[in-house]
Amino acid sequence: MQPNYRIAPSILSANFARLGEEVANVLAAGADWIHFDVMDNHYVPNLTIGPLVCEAIRPLTQATIDVHLMVKPVDRIIPDFAKAGANVISFHPEASEHVDRSLALIRESGCQAGLVFNPATPLEYMDHVMDRLDLVLLMSVNPGFGGQKFIPETLNKLRLARARIDAYKAKTGRQILLEVDGGVKADNIAEIARAGADTFVAGSAVYGAGKDSDPHRYDTVIATLRAELAKA
Ligand code: DX5
Ligand code: ZN
Repeated sequence: MQPNYRIAPSILSANFARLGEEVANVLAAGADWIHFDVMDNHYVPNLTIGPLVCEAIRPLTQATIDVHLMVKPVDRIIPDFAKAGANVISFHPEASEHVDRSLALIRESGCQAGLVFNPATPLEYMDHVMDRLDLVLLMSVNPGFGGQKFIPETLNKLRLARARIDAYKAKTGRQILLEVDGGVKADNIAEIARAGADTFVAGSAVYGAGKDSDPHRYDTVIATLRAELAKA
């Protein structure tokens, strides 16, 4: 059976002067989710976008807005993103004093909850909160910037995360998505899928293709990513 894969372009690499069009164009080209990178110049050394921008793009689409919080602390901002129309909210365990509480807060706010693992963060963080998780996100670069190179060790980590998620599903029947973020391109996406990912963030690979403001480039790049996934 062909697994159900999701492609989630990261708007971090979009042209922010034309953000609405950039969101509409990748979705028209066949993207499934919009990945929304929130950085605070504290937890990570970069500063990006917040709930106001989420609220601004929400009316453009019914697609899932996948908010990736790279901020510390996380709890104060969670309800703001829920009100701004986020569907999925993920955070890094190192950025919350109380991981279980933050996960619960995301669900109470009406969103799906995800936990994000930096390259060196052990998967054990998920063990005692599986019931609270809708998504596990493995970083395949260190968070903070688009356009970095995929860290190959992520493939081993994906296999380990896949095993945990599958064991949990066998026990409970409940599905947890396994997302990967950083350096995902046409030439490695199939291998990443074979290692167990089902949801793929791609920033520079997608938006880099449209930088000459030809939105049809997005059709080509997303079709290429899907064709590669079909090989996995
Ligand atoms: C990095 C962000 C990523 C980033 C991915 O901290 O979380 O979502 O935009 O960009 P690429 O696909 O260019 O590595
Ligand atoms: Zn991200």
